[in-house]
Amino acid sequence: METKLQLLSLTILFYTQSAHAADFCVADLASRETSTGYPCKSPSNVTVDDFVFKGFTAPLSTSNPNKLSLNRAFVKSFPALNGLDLAAVRVDMERDGVVPLHSHPYSPEMIFIIEGTVTAGFVSGLDSNVAYIKTLNKGEMMVIPQGFLHFQANSGPGNATIFVNFNKADPGVQFITGALFRNSFPTWLLEKTTGISQAEIRDLKNLHGGSG
Ligand SMILES: *[C@@H]1O[C@H](CO)[C@@H](O)[C@H](O)[C@H]1NC(C)=O
Ligand SMILES: *[C@@H]1O[C@H](CO)[C@@H](O)[C@H](O)[C@H]1NC(C)=O
Repeated sequence: METKLQLLSLTILFYTQSAHAADFCVADLASRETSTGYPCKSPSNVTVDDFVFKGFTAPLSTSNPNKLSLNRAFVKSFPALNGLDLAAVRVDMERDGVVPLHSHPYSPEMIFIIEGTVTAGFVSGLDSNVAYIKTLNKGEMMVIPQGFLHFQANSGPGNATIFVNFNKADPGVQFITGALFRNSFPTWLLEKTTGISQAEIRDLKNLHGGSG
């Protein structure tokens, strides 16, 4: 009995110590990324600034057709995220700006409206294909289940800012317009697999930079 107890406390001690040893693993960005992330920066070289990200203080340019700025806090710009299964994006949309229909294969998404009015939504899968769409105001949140096609559109009179959270280091992303019209997917095959006419597909390929 005593031996068992001793073994138990030794086990607890061991796990406590290893948990501490692995409390964080700030990415050593000079090393090569592996399938489990980056190797850890030596703890003696880690400072508080490794845990602070200042890339969200202002939007990037919104001078693009979607009137959209995406500031990413991923491991490459925020090395303390290494191994934490977290990533964030600051989204800014000018009036009429939009994050076009896209999906994240590896992560759900939580959006928090910091400023403005945003219409957001997703379409469920399987046989139902229900469109869950809501206009959100400042301070409101919405969650997008993993993998579903979704969008955000600025539906207010001014700018809008959203804080987006993922529970993966890299949520992955596929935009529907890019997947269909920004590559060499043969036009006849696109017509066959989507039902969109070849004339319309050519127009959309011209717009999005596709060929074929
Ligand atoms: C700490 O960083 C310095 C400068 O980059 C480097 O020369 C040194 O090898 C690092 N120390 C450790 C223990 O990795
Ligand atoms: C809206 O956003 C644009 C682009 O970031 C910026 O130039 C402009 O000043 C913003 N307008 C307001 C009222 O904040």
